Amino acid sequence: MVSTSPALASTADSCQYLPFVNSEAVLSPNQQLLPLTAAVTPDAHLSVGSCDVVDLVERFGTPLYILDDHTLRTACRQYRQGFERHYPGESLVLYASKAWSCMAVCAIVTDEGLGIDVVSAGELLTATEAGADRDRIYFHGNNKSAEELALAVEVGCRVVVDNWLELKTLGEIATQEGKTVPLLLRVTPGIECHTHDYIRTGHLDSKFGFDPDQIEAVFEFLVGQPQLNCLGVHAHIGSQIFELNPHTDLGGVMAQWIVTAQRYGLPLTELDVGGGLGIRYTEADDPPSIETWVKTVCASVVAACKAQNLPLPRLLCEPGRSLIGPACVTAYRVGSQKVIPGLRTYVSVDGGMSDNPRPITYQSVYRALVANRMTAPLDKTVTLAGKHCESGDILIKDAALPELKSGDVVTIAGTGAYNYSMASNYNRVPRPAAVLVSGGNACLIIRRETLVDLLRQDCLPETLRPKVKST
Ligand code: LLP
Repeated sequence: MVSTSPALASTADSCQYLPFVNSEAVLSPNQQLLPLTAAVTPDAHLSVGSCDVVDLVERFGTPLYILDDHTLRTACRQYRQGFERHYPGESLVLYASKAWSCMAVCAIVTDEGLGIDVVSAGELLTATEAGADRDRIYFHGNNKSAEELALAVEVGCRVVVDNWLELKTLGEIATQEGKTVPLLLRVTPGIECHTHDYIRTGHLDSKFGFDPDQIEAVFEFLVGQPQLNCLGVHAHIGSQIFELNPHTDLGGVMAQWIVTAQRYGLPLTELDVGGGLGIRYTEADDPPSIETWVKTVCASVVAACKAQNLPLPRLLCEPGRSLIGPACVTAYRVGSQKVIPGLRTYVSVDGGMSDNPRPITYQSVYRALVANRMTAPLDKTVTLAGKHCESGDILIKDAALPELKSGDVVTIAGTGAYNYSMASNYNRVPRPAAVLVSGGNACLIIRRETLVDLLRQDCLPETLRPKVKST
């Protein structure tokens, strides 16, 4: 029923990549170019979650985020079961919801037994409304407002404290409310890694977290603040990381902080190593599997605790991209084309930087397929352009695709992370809908914005209202 198209076969030939579920092998979603359920129908259409992508766009319109339930759940299970296998102590995987915060995604990860990392009152509300357990929500951020901190105290989630102002404000709020607040301290580990400069956070010149040389002063302060219950420490190195070495080193660095806390009589029991595992956007990307990453993290923490003679802490991590990124594709309709002879062919689609700002922000490279003609030969090199009034609004430069015509359904893979969550209304373009697909069923999880939605926050003062012309 399902066959391999030239588009996919060529990928398979060049890098032994076979994304399709027909294989019984255990596939790590972050190593695939397409969701695990991606397949080609007899009429050469792309299907995801047993839903024909061409039918989906006819039903729900374009651009459309198509989220595969199976791929997301598989990634959640691989993380959770990996920790169960490789860590002899307690563990908890948190979903970094900044990657895609919406109620359906939060509900799925909660159902899979994950906690949730939030970074704003908005993400916190989304997680709680989706049914996340309050004591499995961790509130991050380098500039949480007093209102956000008060909300965190009211909700009863854990706060990952980033700096002195926050620590002191949180202490005051806890005292006023007569509550004890569970918290982790975010510390900059001073570990370098190779990724885009904007998404590196673990090196010392970072806006996030306490410097390691502040940590003793922080522990000393905490000793006098019984309403602040410091449970542990947190570090995050960066994002879209393919190396394992930074995480091999991290356990040792963090265990040292736990030893320091012991000297102040603070028995820390939680250690959160952040997220950061990369995904495969194109054939050139070669990230380690979820299993390998988890094994590395566990080995590092176990070895460091043994070396320092520490009991094993509850081990947490907070992946975002590697959970949700590979589970989604975005479908667009092809519109106009501009052929510049001898130079380039621009093929424009009906979305772009407003639904996927990653290419223009980080020069990220993606892979595209034509969902309505999966067996057509990939004999053209075209530049897929967005519809926004900005020359840099290019989704993929020099993509290998078949000859395209207006109305074709171009689908870009790996769009689950930091696409919807960073989407905008640039050029007053409504944000797309998102559907969840599973076993041949598709259901709406985010309604498409309407033109009226775009005006919802506008206020037009009386004096600026259009005058009714008298005739
Ligand atoms: N924990 C903390 C404290 C973080 O700052 C982040 C990501 C994560 C966990 C999740 O990292 P992940 O597993 O997704 O790599 N917008 C950028 C990515 C920014 C990442 C910000 N922090 C992009 O589109 O590449």
